[in-house]
Amino acid sequence: MCGIVALIGSREAAPQLLEGLRQLEYRGYDSAGIATVELAPSGSAGVDGEPPGRLHCLRAEGKLVNLTARYEAEGAPGHCGIGHTRWATHGKPEERNAHPHLDGRGELAVVQNGIIENHRSLREQLQSEGVVFRSDTDTEVIPHLLARQLERLQASGQPADASLLLRAVQEVLPQLHGAYALAVVWAQAPGALVVARRAAPLLIGLGEGEFLCASDTPALAGFTRTILPMEDGEVALLTPLGIELYDGSGRRVQRTPSLLSGTEHVADKRSFRHFMLKEIHEQPETAALWVARHLPEPTEGRLVALPLDPGLYEGLERVQILACGTSRHAALVGAYLLEQLAGIPTSVFYASEFRYAPPPLSRHTLTIGVTQSGETADTLAALAMEQERRRLVADPAFAPRLLGITNRPESSLARMVPHILDIGAGIEVGVAATKTFLGQLLAFYGLALALAERRGGASGPGGPRQLRDLVSQLRQLPALLERLVADHDQRCEALAHLFADTQDVIFLGRGINYPIALEGALKLKEISYIHAEGYPAGEMKHGPIALLDARVPVVSIAMPGTVFDKVLSNAQEAKARDAQLIGVAPEGPDTGLFDVLLPVPEVDELLSPLLTVIPMQLLSYHIAAHRGLDVDQPRNLAKSVTVE
Ligand code: F6R
Repeated sequence: MCGIVALIGSREAAPQLLEGLRQLEYRGYDSAGIATVELAPSGSAGVDGEPPGRLHCLRAEGKLVNLTARYEAEGAPGHCGIGHTRWATHGKPEERNAHPHLDGRGELAVVQNGIIENHRSLREQLQSEGVVFRSDTDTEVIPHLLARQLERLQASGQPADASLLLRAVQEVLPQLHGAYALAVVWAQAPGALVVARRAAPLLIGLGEGEFLCASDTPALAGFTRTILPMEDGEVALLTPLGIELYDGSGRRVQRTPSLLSGTEHVADKRSFRHFMLKEIHEQPETAALWVARHLPEPTEGRLVALPLDPGLYEGLERVQILACGTSRHAALVGAYLLEQLAGIPTSVFYASEFRYAPPPLSRHTLTIGVTQSGETADTLAALAMEQERRRLVADPAFAPRLLGITNRPESSLARMVPHILDIGAGIEVGVAATKTFLGQLLAFYGLALALAERRGGASGPGGPRQLRDLVSQLRQLPALLERLVADHDQRCEALAHLFADTQDVIFLGRGINYPIALEGALKLKEISYIHAEGYPAGEMKHGPIALLDARVPVVSIAMPGTVFDKVLSNAQEAKARDAQLIGVAPEGPDTGLFDVLLPVPEVDELLSPLLTVIPMQLLSYHIAAHRGLDVDQPRNLAKSVTVE
């Protein structure tokens, strides 16, 4: 996590750095900082060892507004600079741990996104040499290591300039273990910026006579559309004259820049109170775009238009899905569909667990990585590990078949796996995933339907006719969602006060709606800080029922289908323990048992998660907003989790 920006060019750097950080604030918002290098007044450089540039560093605890206020009061002149927005890993979220971090002389500044795993031993070694540390961060070892290396190089007679800074970075990087992206400026080389990455994202944006480097595309979107994503292990020297790119072994690399897709735009809250609410309201549009792209008119041959490489599905025997958090909940719905509709045995793994305990290799297996950001470190590492262990097997039955599902087709995920399903949900700013979750669900509906179709129909009794019915109901989805979002926005707002003193909530669902119960609980936890658990409804009597009394509301998802009666019986069991029962179910005599009903229209059970998730999102949103919490940037979280 954390976001970094770096700029060099002909205009004042600080305003553009702050704007870049504003676009990256979703990556962390514990503290922020910038450092700029100003050319020293002519005549002063070299006098009494004065460097040719002056370093200005501003840092502030808390949200970016605090840093902006400091900049407005104190300024930070210079045409070259670096910036950082932090999600604390090592060291509390205090100003002294905010980036940039400086060397002892205050001439060199570094921002870093990632974790330097061997920072303790490096710190001890530097301290034994007399270096004094001012923060608890892992990053601070870098400016000290660089300063020491620069001193050594200068002592051997080399001039202090941009090339020396580049060389020092290249020589220090092999000492750092872990995943990182970093940017460095040095008062001795005021017209130079050095950036590097290893297993953390970094892109260079090419403007007119200026270059902006950032962790993610939103920071570049208002600046340029021409980008050069850096590859793993690369180091770049940026000056106003151009970019010098080097691979990990120091060889010069030439690469053609690419164009950012037109869908990236600077986020705007419109008239909504929070981005999360706006993004919930954008879901009918997400669905409409998906229908237009993937469900061609019935006369056009295939039911589902999904460009799938035959290498992904021919002879397919198993699917395994790797994901974290909300993306994993989408994967659980996906697994249900792939098994029940397409008849393909499917397993879902927490990516962070899979990395260290993968199952034995299975034959003819498709591995799907699901990550809206395309940058989640655990998911990327699990995919890389799976790819590697399969590559080592000579038998082609075990060859890697990798597919990524993401909202960021230019992300690290897309550069790692050969096939991508782009969910095309547009930029999501709220840290709690909403429209990207719907987009991921839709990607799985498309995939399961397409695979079922290629296998000659649904695996269940419905066969090809069932597929046609599902597709025709899916075409109605945007209109259904439109009504549902508008209706539940009001209903959930009116309900929110009931939860003013609530401390625990249980979410129950079964079958294809069990993952939606998990998602409802996760949404509530992360933005309202209310403890919540999602359970398969039938499991409640095996333990969690002991928690129930009149103070613990139970949200029960009860959609008609194979387990409808069972879920209603489970809800009765909760009611018998005095629980306040909130039903997410169609209106009708069967659902009269609920104290409060959040009505959802009846659709084919297989499609119901696309609707039942809406009240989950809106209920969480309104409870958190009613409590006056920072819905878009909940405490301790970040949108893109780029550390392990
Ligand atoms: C919750 C949420 C997180 C993410 C998780 C994985 O609202 O957004 O649980 O789902 O951090 O993120 P991605 O999908 O970017 O891999």
